[in-house]
Amino acid sequence: MSFNFDERVERYHTDSEKWLKYRDQDIIPMWIADTDFRAAPAIQQALSERVEQGVFGYADDQGALAKAAAQWVEKQYHWTIDPDWVLPLSGIKPVFSLLQECLLSADQSSLCHTPIYPPFTQSAHNAQRAQRLIPYPLFDQPDFLYAPLPALTPQERLLFICNPHNPGGKSYSREALHHLAEYAEHYDLWVCSDEIHADLLLDPERRHIPFASLSADSAQRSITLLSAAKAFNLAGLGCAVAIIPNNPLRERVRRAVAQRMAVPNSLGLVATCAAWQQSEAWLVAQRHYLRGNRDHLAESLLQLPALRMVVPDAGFLAWIDASGLQQADPHHWMEQHGLGLTAGAAYGDPQAVRLNFGCCRSRLDEALTRLCNAVEQA
Ligand SMILES: Cc1ncc(COP(=O)(O)O)c(C=O)c1O
Repeated sequence: MSFNFDERVERYHTDSEKWLKYRDQDIIPMWIADTDFRAAPAIQQALSERVEQGVFGYADDQGALAKAAAQWVEKQYHWTIDPDWVLPLSGIKPVFSLLQECLLSADQSSLCHTPIYPPFTQSAHNAQRAQRLIPYPLFDQPDFLYAPLPALTPQERLLFICNPHNPGGKSYSREALHHLAEYAEHYDLWVCSDEIHADLLLDPERRHIPFASLSADSAQRSITLLSAAKAFNLAGLGCAVAIIPNNPLRERVRRAVAQRMAVPNSLGLVATCAAWQQSEAWLVAQRHYLRGNRDHLAESLLQLPALRMVVPDAGFLAWIDASGLQQADPHHWMEQHGLGLTAGAAYGDPQAVRLNFGCCRSRLDEALTRLCNAVEQA
């Protein structure tokens, strides 16, 4: 079966946050992290059948999501888990502050790398816990192995990692993960590993390595967050999982989730199971398409020395150092030239922008033409 990622999907009528932001403006939306692609046919079919039932009360999926998650991680990452380790969630973002409130006393703190997807840092503020930011010099040393890890105090108890990384798109090597695992063991840290972009490794030879799969010790200190939202473009359907092998830890998190978070969306449950159980061929085709987009973008940016891009291993987001443009606000400058990217400031780098290339090739080409013209005239 072939899938058409070249289709120019009209998204204004789909309540798209990404597209409505620039409605009536000549700005190509390439910001928030969803793609412009239609969902896989099996997902659309499963949703239609569920909608046809016409009843949408509280759902009990009888363990279907946990079973689908266990089969998926076994097949994709060769990670064997017990479905009992899986906690269904309505989303990943709220878990960051929930974990800090549930696992850290008021005088304990977390750590994470910067730049980073902003909710990691915002969550510390929400949870009223301190957080240490560890610099990850993405533009100069994108291999995570070389991001130095600081000596910690006994109060620092929870390490957040984002693998593959948002915004850098870097996937951590086994060596880098071992380095992190030794560090976590040395300081006896809980490790929350957000692996939401794991299924979008663009090189077909590479396989994602969950932090928790490294060793019995890493499993026992880990909370792994996964969902089909990014790889299958289901972000609006509110469904994810936490995989927690450590029984007492899982029960603590389960209680906190039950008190504070909404249950997963009924349609999200159906869509996620259809993604993980019936849509692998679509995912492989999408990765191939995205790989083409990434390579095209990277080659085009080589012609523009004012812009330096971290070539992502995974996903559809490109982190770009725009300091060479010598603009006070490169994000605003891009908007003035018809490109709606994500501003780097909230991620920890005001001179960077993030470009979402999860779109059809013709739209990417339009954006690149605008970008080249703008940079040449600058
Ligand atoms: C690393 C990362 N984690 C979490 C999320 C959001 O997940 P959710 O929509 O399930 O809250 C995103 C969305 O862009 C993300 O990039």
